[in-house]
Amino acid sequence: MSANNQFEVIPTGAALGADIVGLDLTQEIDSSVFKKVISAWDEHLVLRFRNQNLTEDQFVRFSQYFGALDKAPTRPVNGAYHPTREEIAVISNIVREGVAIGGLGNSELVWHQDMTYKELPPKASILYGLTTPATGGDTHFYNLNRAYETLPDALRKQIKGLLCKHDATRNSAGQLRAGFDETYSNENRPGAVHPLVIKHHETGKESLYVGRRPNAWIVGLSDHDSDQLLDEIWHHIETGTHHWTQQWQPYDLVIWDNRYTLHMRGDLDPNQDRLMHRTQIRDERAPIAA
Ligand code: SIN
Repeated sequence: MSANNQFEVIPTGAALGADIVGLDLTQEIDSSVFKKVISAWDEHLVLRFRNQNLTEDQFVRFSQYFGALDKAPTRPVNGAYHPTREEIAVISNIVREGVAIGGLGNSELVWHQDMTYKELPPKASILYGLTTPATGGDTHFYNLNRAYETLPDALRKQIKGLLCKHDATRNSAGQLRAGFDETYSNENRPGAVHPLVIKHHETGKESLYVGRRPNAWIVGLSDHDSDQLLDEIWHHIETGTHHWTQQWQPYDLVIWDNRYTLHMRGDLDPNQDRLMHRTQIRDERAPIAA
């Protein structure tokens, strides 16, 4: 039997997140062991594996246990291809001879889910720290099940069954994507429509599904009423305590479930280098379900 079959799950003690201790990701993982990793992920939504000194192939192999990978985004403001592995996005604020070696730079300081403007958004992302700053550059994660459960009763009832359009025109840093402009009404703005409340595919726990705030619209409501309702929900999220912060150490690997969590990068000192590799896992299920 392989030695890579025992691990402990140590919850962060915050609203989400757990450390997986004892697995060596340079080695293959048996499917029976991996099932237990998935159970821990279903419960804690974000998992951290510390001290994993991985080659790029080992990083991709581990990522693929969770499902088929997307190609890294190609847009220069939002990611760069790794020179040899097209599944790896390079996330970095490092500039060499005037050229940024990766995407996101020092940006992205707002809560969001990735690519929910698509009909079938990615199920998860994995971030792996290669060069991590001594201070700052943290990644924050938010538990959207807790956010939903702690809404006032009346608001929870009011939003059940509503649909929300997720804006495709801006990226997670709020920048206008190429080919889009500011002229859209809520009705004709490009983007996917998803239920505002969804269920975890295994645990059945209900979660808010909000994507990001700018240009979101609750289908069928007037602009004013939609903004008022979304502002109330986002105020609840932003003033809530249902989050956990990952303070990076070199060779930390963190996977988060994009369906039931928000994430955002914290302040980053531009004088401190940060270099991460990132993979993104496709969702093969039917579209997001209420
Ligand atoms: C991301 O949003 O994928 C990157 C977050 C980070 O760099 O901390």
